[in-house]
Amino acid sequence: MTAECTGPGSRHDPHAQARHARQSPLLLHSLSVFREIFELLFEHREIGTVVEVGVESGEVSALYLELGATTVHCVEPSPSPDLRTAIAEREGLHLVETPSPAALTALPAAELYILDGDHNYATVKHELDWILRHAPNTLVVLHDLLWPCSRRDLYYQPSPLPPPHRHPASTDGPTVWHDELTPAGFTGLGSFTSARHAGGERNGVLTAVEDALDDATNPSWRLLLIPAIFGAGVLFRPQNPADEQLLRKLELYQNSHLLAAMENNRIALYTRVLQLQYEAAARDSHLDALADQVAHYRAELERLKTGPVS
Ligand SMILES: C[S@@+](CC[C@H](N)C(=O)[O-])C[C@H]1O[C@@H](n2cnc3c(N)ncnc32)[C@H](O)[C@@H]1O
Repeated sequence: MTAECTGPGSRHDPHAQARHARQSPLLLHSLSVFREIFELLFEHREIGTVVEVGVESGEVSALYLELGATTVHCVEPSPSPDLRTAIAEREGLHLVETPSPAALTALPAAELYILDGDHNYATVKHELDWILRHAPNTLVVLHDLLWPCSRRDLYYQPSPLPPPHRHPASTDGPTVWHDELTPAGFTGLGSFTSARHAGGERNGVLTAVEDALDDATNPSWRLLLIPAIFGAGVLFRPQNPADEQLLRKLELYQNSHLLAAMENNRIALYTRVLQLQYEAAARDSHLDALADQVAHYRAELERLKTGPVS
């Protein structure tokens, strides 16, 4: 997402904004949308090494190099062939196929960690406990601190977590229209499951962050939560005037009621679209079944009409 994506168009090109709108995916979910936040981080901190946990398409990996990093360790246990090629072709990107948090211990400490892998309490708490202890001056960017993972675990499948570290889960997904999971909700179509119940202890990504901060030996860590695109957090310990300036700039995003209102509207609209899609598919299969029945009765009628009269 670049600045020109936000222009109003002109009287000679009145469709420019709509053109950009339809070029975006229907559901924005990548951290690449937070480019301006990453620009701020790189402006205010020296960042050479990045550990990126949860890479998926690799849409964001090269951005860190573009902004000044020299090495990006891309931790992705399920890399697609395209991702393998993209990483192999770009100097500075290194694929790590060990899942996090185990992968973290084998990598050098980084100036920036991106946590966007398995979105559940056990994984994120373990990742943060390790980072806050071993990289006390680092920056951490966390994704999915808001709905649906803030207070409800999600587990990529097959989950490597032993059962005591998982809540009972379902392939059904959350919706904002009621509190229970539904097959018409935000499902992973087989790639992940969601905890059946939201809330309580040891459930959700934001709960993991709160507990890791409570357990941290140093109380000066600050979390800024940007209420957009499923919620992004920036965690660091302000140590100098540049850090204080970064803090002030991030607070503007954190305190934006406008962003929060737009995010709530976005997830309400999107889960309504999911529900309508689900209902349309159910109606289609009902109509298919009716058409089969009609064909069957027609054939039966023909047989009775043309069959031998006894
Ligand atoms: C939401 S996607 C990441 C999106 C990417 N960061 C972006 O913004 O474009 C989550 C990714 O984490 C990966 N993943 C799941 N469990 C993981 C783990 N334990 N360690 C690292 N990555 C994991 C999944 O395979 C998936 O590709």
